[in-house]
Amino acid sequence: MILVFLGPPGSGKGTQAKNLSKEFGLLHISTGDLLRDAVKRATPLGLKAKEYMERGELVPDSLILSLIEEVMPLESGFILDGFPRTIAQAIALEDMLKKHGKEIDKVILFDVSEEVVVDRLSGRLTCSQCGEVYHKKYNPPKQEGICDVCGGKLIQREDDKEEVIRKRFRVYQEQTRPLIDFYRERDKLISLNATLSVEEVKEKLLEAIKDGN
Ligand code: AP5
Repeated sequence: MILVFLGPPGSGKGTQAKNLSKEFGLLHISTGDLLRDAVKRATPLGLKAKEYMERGELVPDSLILSLIEEVMPLESGFILDGFPRTIAQAIALEDMLKKHGKEIDKVILFDVSEEVVVDRLSGRLTCSQCGEVYHKKYNPPKQEGICDVCGGKLIQREDDKEEVIRKRFRVYQEQTRPLIDFYRERDKLISLNATLSVEEVKEKLLEAIKDGN
């Protein structure tokens, strides 16, 4: 199964992708996580991507596409979280999959408003070591500032400051939202009300994958 998780920043794509990938044995490919890792290790890609990410802008398509080509598995199923984000990326993905006789099964749209996005991202805490994600109100760690999983320090992502969050939302509206029609025309799109709780969204997601609508 090949799934694409589409939606604004903070709509819960990563949270649900982590759960679903474990449950279904799918690889979770998050372009945001891959880029943050490259930035941390100061690789040539990381050095090029850093400024775009800090400003809340999209990293150029050419960089993202070579990254995806490197990591995309040909044997197993996977969830793409945060990719594609432009029409050019979506077309390139279609071509890449076609070459291997594959296609996307479903595109899940995580639908939330700008105010929900700001509330979620301004309260998000991320483990500086293992990347586990928490929320100050909705999913707090057992011990303040410490990751439950690995004991690492919890930090606020550089791009989770209100000004950058609002910029990322605008970038989403301008450059990524057109993908909704792109996938609707291909009969792949399933829209979820992602303002519900994590458990409720999970339930709707499982139903949508089973039913296909
Ligand atoms: P990326 O890391 O992909 O960021 P994003 O799409 O902005 O998404 P987030 O990770 O911020 O949010 P999410 O939807 O995964 O929400 P989460 O589950 O964490 O990209 C970062 C940057 O990298 C981009 O700005 C760009 O520069 C670059 N980039 C990445 N991919 C690219 C591409 N393809 N092309 C070009 N550039 C690219 O949840 C958020 C918070 O809410 C958490 O605290 C969580 O605990 C909480 N939460 C989750 N669900 C719920 C719920 N149902 N109820 C209450 N709280 C919830």
